[in-house]
Amino acid sequence: MRDCMRPDFIIHTPGEITRIRTAAAKAAQVREHICSLVRSGMTTWDLDELAGEVIRSTGGTPTFLGYRGYPGNICISINDEVVHGIRRKDRFILNGDVVSIDVGVTFDGCVGDTAKTIFVGGDIPEDITRLLKFTESALECGLAAAHPGGYVQDISRGVEMEAKRGHLGIVEEFVGHGCGTRMHEPPDVPNFVQHRRGPMLQPGMVLCVEPMLNLGSKKVYVESDGWTVRTRDGEPSAHFEHMVLITETGTEVLTRV
Ligand code: MF3
Ligand code: CO
Ligand code: CO
Repeated sequence: MRDCMRPDFIIHTPGEITRIRTAAAKAAQVREHICSLVRSGMTTWDLDELAGEVIRSTGGTPTFLGYRGYPGNICISINDEVVHGIRRKDRFILNGDVVSIDVGVTFDGCVGDTAKTIFVGGDIPEDITRLLKFTESALECGLAAAHPGGYVQDISRGVEMEAKRGHLGIVEEFVGHGCGTRMHEPPDVPNFVQHRRGPMLQPGMVLCVEPMLNLGSKKVYVESDGWTVRTRDGEPSAHFEHMVLITETGTEVLTRV
């Protein structure tokens, strides 16, 4: 414990890990299902309603709904929207859009949190291919850098190095996090290297690694709706997120399909 009484990290019990694994598997399944439902011409309101049904069909509930007053089942962030895009009846998904889907499923008191970005429509521009390819590989590099006895900073370095290889802007204001019996647990998992190496990675820790990378500059702002995060330069952004469990012998990604 630090002086503020917030622990630096959470070690989950074997019983909790079993339930976190289940919630994470459901979230992964829901993520893929929702991505398969995305069509040009639908509104983000309709997609969010469908997402609510898909989440409840797993026996779980939408983690985000009501979280700090969040007014949706999932987050749907299009083009220059980075994260936390809210459903709207007048927001149409169109061909050529870059759509980020972030899903939270609460099941049996535990949380699965995972995200993916897709391109809607046929001909994908080369710069969007680079954006999606490197944001996903940055996530994979972060996950690959995690091992028991290492540090949170190793994950950050893995993400940052790959993001830089793809010449993408790294969002700094929003970061990955511990996850398990609550959506946001300590520690923070930044997508860039900071001065402190962070807590040691230990068996029983569950972390969300979630690069938010921009085709242009790293700068973002929060829109007047109080939620939607957008790039300042209007260039598109991508977001991929997995949950990883640190085990005695290595790691286990909990949100693969
Ligand atoms: N799922 C997001 C994350 O990856 C947080 C969503 S915030 C909410 O941390 F308000 F939409 F719930
Ligand atoms: Co998320
Ligand atoms: Co998250």
